[in-house]
Amino acid sequence: MKNNIDKRVEELLSKMTIEEKIGQLHQSGVSIVGAFEVSFEELINMLTDGRITPKEFEEYMSNAEEDFHEDDIRAGRISSFNGVHGAEKVNRLQKIAVEESRLGIPLLIGADIIHGCKTTFPIPLAESCSWDEKLWEKTSEIAADEASSLGIAWTFAPMIDIARDPRWGRISEGAGEDPYLVSKFAVAKVKGFQGEDVSDPNRLLACAKHFVAYGACEGGRDYNTTDMSKQRLHEVYLPPFKAAVKAGCQTIMPAFNDLNGVPCSMNNYLLKDVLRNEYKFDGMLISDANAIHECVIHGAVENRKEAALKSLSAGLDMDMTSNCYIENVKKLTENGDLSIEDLDTAVKNVLRVKFRKGLFDNPYITDSNREKETVSNAKFRPLAKESALNSIVLLKNDGILPLKRDMKIGVVGNLADDKWETIGAWAIMADGDNCISVLEGIKNYKNDVSYEKCIEKDKINEEEVDKICSENDIIIAVVGEGRDMTGEASSKADITMPKVQQDLVKSILNRGKRVIIVLMNGRPLDLSWEDKNVNAIVEAWQLGTEMGNAVSDVLFGEFNPCGKLTTTFPYNVGQCPIYYNHPSTGRPAGKSKFTSKYLDMPVEPLYPFGYGLSYTTFKYNDLRAVFNNSGDLEVSIKVKNTGNMDGNEVVQVYVQDMVASRVRPVKELKSFKKVFIKSGEEMDISFLIKNDDLGYYNEEMNYITEKGTFKVFVGGSSKEVLDTEVEL
Ligand code: GLC
Repeated sequence: MKNNIDKRVEELLSKMTIEEKIGQLHQSGVSIVGAFEVSFEELINMLTDGRITPKEFEEYMSNAEEDFHEDDIRAGRISSFNGVHGAEKVNRLQKIAVEESRLGIPLLIGADIIHGCKTTFPIPLAESCSWDEKLWEKTSEIAADEASSLGIAWTFAPMIDIARDPRWGRISEGAGEDPYLVSKFAVAKVKGFQGEDVSDPNRLLACAKHFVAYGACEGGRDYNTTDMSKQRLHEVYLPPFKAAVKAGCQTIMPAFNDLNGVPCSMNNYLLKDVLRNEYKFDGMLISDANAIHECVIHGAVENRKEAALKSLSAGLDMDMTSNCYIENVKKLTENGDLSIEDLDTAVKNVLRVKFRKGLFDNPYITDSNREKETVSNAKFRPLAKESALNSIVLLKNDGILPLKRDMKIGVVGNLADDKWETIGAWAIMADGDNCISVLEGIKNYKNDVSYEKCIEKDKINEEEVDKICSENDIIIAVVGEGRDMTGEASSKADITMPKVQQDLVKSILNRGKRVIIVLMNGRPLDLSWEDKNVNAIVEAWQLGTEMGNAVSDVLFGEFNPCGKLTTTFPYNVGQCPIYYNHPSTGRPAGKSKFTSKYLDMPVEPLYPFGYGLSYTTFKYNDLRAVFNNSGDLEVSIKVKNTGNMDGNEVVQVYVQDMVASRVRPVKELKSFKKVFIKSGEEMDISFLIKNDDLGYYNEEMNYITEKGTFKVFVGGSSKEVLDTEVEL
């Protein structure tokens, strides 16, 4: 199959004119003509940063004329579209490309299918808290089924940026702070989107993004500069991409940011040395939106022509909507600045991926019947609920949860009754009207709950607070962030809950009521005040289509919460960036003044990585660890469910290399297993950690594993652990 494709690529390339070659490197946006003159890209940005609501977006899209530049398709000047969907529309455009252009090269239709398509799953940061690889894969498979039924063949996902700073709004779009867990997430997502055979018309090409270290943006400010050692790059930010490439991910998107002064879009070290030469990546690179042009704004090149030259020479194959390639590459080849070899290499990468996707043999991947049968099909709802249930993290519970059906309960908050708030950021295709709001879910379980919004235009309605408190003993406050407060271009310097939301909780507490917070948010928040003052905190994130039913099952004990945080919740934004796998320092925080700490607050986070409560309790004992003859680490532990409710537990294994030629983190996640243990039962669980997984990069950038003492920690979070030492 591989040789056949390479042969077909060479044959096709030999027939192509220079214009047709350049056309294959151009991804076009969709111009929206009518309501207002913006590109589809700009419309997406307006949706993502909340300048227009999803409903307004749909209205613009429905009554605006879309200009698909059909003559450019006919002339072979367009290779791909971002954001076109609908079986009929896509097939019409595909027909022009395949039957009316000279060489009949099919279009590749891409879109941001990040956490579901029409059926929406939890935002990735939430879903990562399920620590469930099968679930991660399954939801992406469903998303691929729905998206491909709409004519989409390529998703710009998974987003696998390591994020250690909750000020960064895009932390919501990834799987948290740990390289090992995010690598597992990356593999599961690539498998889910692409399947065993990526030419299957019901699957999608995956796109690992944003390559690389985008989440290390200084100050947590989106698009900001990143700068780090090669060791940190290869130990923390690159591993998920290495895993994605190994799993067969077909496309990769370089990030907007500069890394050590060189924009990722034109970074030879990243795109050539690491991706092509070290990782042997043989798929295709797509720029981020307008990112090639932004090399000019970075100040890394004089003009768009040089941006095109430097990006294409570095190995960036396709230009997402900046038009730099389509405007400049012909001249660059004519005056000899750009070699034909570099151009042909990029064209071959694009053609190879299109052949692998099966588009030459089957360019029409869907039809209106398949679209009708697939989109928002009720058969996807059980998985949407299962994913939502497993993504919920119980952060605090003084015993008030689970609730009983016969209790007098009131619900407050503007987020409670808003279906569209359940979809979170980067849910462009989501069918919000098809989602179950938190209030609906609670009413589905207990229809006599009373509800008052209590917030109107950022003001507390004290009469409504009085009313709901006069009628009920327990109040469920559905509070947190709006979905427009995370995602792209949504960094925040203050990560406490929005003031009016916190004021609502205070207002209820002042009336002497017991309060359960159901938190809707897309980033870790500073909950230090809430943790001190309310009875329970349920981290419900934005869980998508089945959010309300999942939240109510947890609140009433129909499902025992088992989510574990994949990103640290700081005590205060002043601690950021904050993460569990940090080095010791020579003066780790302690009682003495002269140690690494703050005068005005603890160094410890509010909730650590890997943390999450259950309605039952688990007792760990009998930890054993030994290196076997091949230098692999064998670990075993006994875990008993000592409570009166069956439940899932995520058993986590961390390792510390006590002495090494470069200081190592005090803990690093090296394995985990999610197990179901019945009340009163005990389970013996074992792990095997490969010797190679215990290595690191020394000063000469050689990856090594050294002999010496290792500390092994096992527990239900990165903090509550048993530990033992073992010699390699
Ligand atoms: C955006 C995002 C990227 C997305 C792309 C296409 O700016 O950075 O994640 O895939 O544009 O919409």
